[in-house]
Amino acid sequence: MFASDNAAGVHPAVLAALAEANRGHALGYGADDYTARANQAFKRLFGEQAESFLVFNGTGANVIALKGLLRSYEAVFCSAESHLWIDEAGAPEQFLGAKLITLPADNGKIRLDDMLPRLGDIGFQHRSQPRVISIAQCTERGSVYRRDELQAICDFARRHGFYVHIDGARIHNAVAALGGDCKRLFTDIGVDVVSFGGTKNGLMMGEAVVVLNPELQANYAVIRKHGMQLASKMRFLAAQFLAYFDQDLWLHNAAHANRMAACLAEQLHTVPGARLMVPAETNMLFVEIPNAWIAPLQQQAYFHVWRADSRPGFSEVRLVMSFDVTQADIEAFIGTMRRLATG
Ligand SMILES: Cc1ncc(COP(=O)(O)O)c(C=O)c1O
Repeated sequence: MFASDNAAGVHPAVLAALAEANRGHALGYGADDYTARANQAFKRLFGEQAESFLVFNGTGANVIALKGLLRSYEAVFCSAESHLWIDEAGAPEQFLGAKLITLPADNGKIRLDDMLPRLGDIGFQHRSQPRVISIAQCTERGSVYRRDELQAICDFARRHGFYVHIDGARIHNAVAALGGDCKRLFTDIGVDVVSFGGTKNGLMMGEAVVVLNPELQANYAVIRKHGMQLASKMRFLAAQFLAYFDQDLWLHNAAHANRMAACLAEQLHTVPGARLMVPAETNMLFVEIPNAWIAPLQQQAYFHVWRADSRPGFSEVRLVMSFDVTQADIEAFIGTMRRLATG
């Protein structure tokens, strides 16, 4: 149950929308009314100039998003803990043919200072040319870049001729945590392209590449096909997003998951032996627990061990809350922890 937010099922409203879309025929490859309406919904979120390109999955969204931003002799800055670097099986390197330059992660976030030494590479013929800063919002540690932090990254990028890409596989958790709207949080401060997640927050499958910079939009349709992420029955991706945005379901789901994480974090303080490793900002918690607790807790609600033997006798585990986790699930989990703590 706490392994990942993609272990949760499909939200009933999304499932109903899929059934509803399954009537009659519609033109393929996005030439249907559902896709047109989904694109309008993204414009309402990010501003009129945004163009969206629906894709199947998060890795696909990231590589398609980046493909439109750089050439093979250029490079992407990303964190050393990023999904891009660690968990995409080399797809970015293979598909982009470009270099990834990793930066140390500070609670999941990159620091501008760590890019400074690479600025000397610009124009130097022996070096890959930095072109894109890619950050995850929220990060792989569940932390969130504040708007001013993101603004500073975008300003830095502009000064040096870089583009900014957001890996938003969990953008909903970040937006729910920050409050405010996507236009203010991303478009207005100069983000160029967003990988907009959906699967981790109630969709069956489906993400979107949302291109905010109008100067970059022209090639994305072809890039998506070239990258094997063009769905012929696109209406079924689009219909999910329509349900997702209807009455802000996406934000309700994410806010609920964040609340469940906050609730679990609060209760963890009452369990001797459990230690929260980073502040709870979104829907993910990183908690150090005695190794002996892992198996019995996993039996109750499966989760992944993040860092085995983080210190002798203890491991750091990741607990991820989904849209359908309940207060009762949290209480049952904490109850088991307390029993284990008191022997
Ligand atoms: C931060 C982040 N980005 C991207 C992805 C990619 O998602 P997918 O597994 O759909 O390729 C994930 C999935 O776990 C993720 O956590």
